[in-house]
Amino acid sequence: MSKTYSAIVAATASLAVGATLAFAQAPDDRVGFPADYATTFTNYVSVDRQNGTQVMRIFANDIAMQGPGPDGRLADGAIIVGEIYPALVDGEDNVVITDLGRFIRGDLAAIAVMEKQAGWGDVFTDELRNDDWDFAIFSSTGERRDADLDACRACHAPLGDKDHVFSFRHLPGAAFPAEAENPMGP
Ligand code: HEC
Repeated sequence: MSKTYSAIVAATASLAVGATLAFAQAPDDRVGFPADYATTFTNYVSVDRQNGTQVMRIFANDIAMQGPGPDGRLADGAIIVGEIYPALVDGEDNVVITDLGRFIRGDLAAIAVMEKQAGWGDVFTDELRNDDWDFAIFSSTGERRDADLDACRACHAPLGDKDHVFSFRHLPGAAFPAEAENPMGP
C-alpha cells in the first residue's frame, strides 16, 4: 500500500468514527438558559397543559415572533420558553377548575427551552430530529436540570408541519397554515 493511500484510508476511517459518534449524541448543553426571557420575550400564549396537571406560559424571542417564513419554518435563532407550573389541586387531589373552565397555576416549577440553530438537527435520526431545534430544561431559577432530552425530541418530532412547536398556530402569521382552510379568506 502506498504511503498516500494508507494515509487516506486512515483519514477516512477516523472520519467515519467521528460521524458515528456525532450521530449518536448531541451535546446536552448547547441550548443555554435565556436569562432575560421574562423581560425581552413575548408571552404569546398560556395554556392548561394536555397532561391535565400543569399550566404552561409560553414565551418567544423576537425571531420566533416574526412567525414562519414562506417555507413554513421559524428562522434560525428562534427560541421558545415554556414556564411550567403545577395546577392547583383540591383536598382530594383533583385539579381545581375555575368558573372559566381553567386551571389555577401554583409556583413556577421548571423552565423548558427550545432553540433553533443552523445544522443542529444534522446529528439526529428522523425519529429524534426536530428540523434544527434542540431542547433543554432548567429549574425555576435557571440551573440546568438532568433530563432525558431524547424524550423531548421524540414527542415534538412528529409535528413537522408545525415546525415542531405545539403552540405554533398561536404565533403571529401561523394561525392558518397554507394547507388549512382559512375561514377569513376570499
Ligand atoms: C409527551 C410529549 C412531550 C414531551 C416528552 C415533551 N413535550 Fe414539550 N410540549 C408538549 C406539548 C403537548 C406542548 C404544548 C403545551 C401542552 O399542552 O402541554 C409542549 C410545549 C413545549 C414548549 C412550548 C413550545 C410549544 O411546543 O408549544 C417547549 C419549549 C417545550 N415543550 C419543551 C420541551 C422540553 C425541553 C422537553 C423535555 C424536557 C419537552 N418539551 C418534552 C409535549 C411534550
